[in-house]
Amino acid sequence: MKDAYGRQIDYLRLSVTDLCNYRCQYCMPAGGIAKRPHGDILSVEECVEIAQAAVRCGVKKIRLTGGEPLVRRGILDICRGLRAIAGLEKLCLTTNGSLLPRLAKPLREAGVDRLNISLDTLRPERFAAMTRMGRLEDVLSGIRVAEEAGFSPLKLDTVLIGGFNGDEIGDFIHLTLDHPWEIRFIELMPMGPCAAWDKACFLPGETVPARYPDLEPTAAQGVARRFRLPGAKGTVGLISPLSHDFCGVCRRIRVTADGHLKGCLHSREEIPLRGLHGADLEEAIRQCAAHKPERHHLSDRPSDTPRNMNQIGG
Ligand code: 5AD
Ligand code: SF4
Repeated sequence: MKDAYGRQIDYLRLSVTDLCNYRCQYCMPAGGIAKRPHGDILSVEECVEIAQAAVRCGVKKIRLTGGEPLVRRGILDICRGLRAIAGLEKLCLTTNGSLLPRLAKPLREAGVDRLNISLDTLRPERFAAMTRMGRLEDVLSGIRVAEEAGFSPLKLDTVLIGGFNGDEIGDFIHLTLDHPWEIRFIELMPMGPCAAWDKACFLPGETVPARYPDLEPTAAQGVARRFRLPGAKGTVGLISPLSHDFCGVCRRIRVTADGHLKGCLHSREEIPLRGLHGADLEEAIRQCAAHKPERHHLSDRPSDTPRNMNQIGG
């Protein structure tokens, strides 16, 4: 599929739940979100049917997101169903890592190719404060078990937050000396609870290479600019949706946990997919790609979407 600006659309991000076992301050309200009736969320069969139609339309890579996809009942069935789709080249999953000690091996066996694990701090007390209920050691053992299960190279996603983890950039970067990980620093996007946060929280990605001039640029990958410390086993990625918006190379469409198709994370426009099948479903997906917005407007105003990140998937 090509959109109106010549971009090839071949990457679907599918949110399988809006629930999460953490309450990260920038993403979720402290009290969490109201649990919706089961029927509001796409069933396993609907997820697979939508994925099949997307692959028929030219999607080659699917990423499962949330909320936290691993709290979703049936997540392994969804993975197996997607893995069985001929023409799907890559099945990836983004997780907060907390349930990987139990689920990494089954996910591998269900056919997941790549994992991204979110990790915003390496300090246990900060981790507990940011997630409001999480334990850093769960995620660290999740990372170990994921590697043992064959998920390598891992990507670790760190949202840069001024006043919170700006002083840990060096600690994260140094992890790449001994581990074959890609540590990816992501600019905080003003949406949901953090839309009203102080400007100082929104650290530009450029802070990273500016503070660590030893980082040598290497080939970019997708939307990430990449660097490497001399002699390091891993790499450092920079994802800068605000300061270097990468809309020009965006290949994505998204499906929310309640079955709405979005051409852009930050746009209000959505196409309800539930109840559509076969050629109608494919037509909706093609329409969404054809009308994908050219870019977001985060440099002028907060995200246009009224949804929180947990409903769309990061
Ligand atoms: N800005 C940037 N990243 C965010 N995420 C959640 N909310 C935001 C935001 N406002 C990230 C999570 C996780 C992924 C799912 O999306 O930290 O890495
Ligand atoms: Fe959960 Fe991810 Fe949101 Fe944190 S950022 S509350 S881990 S969905």
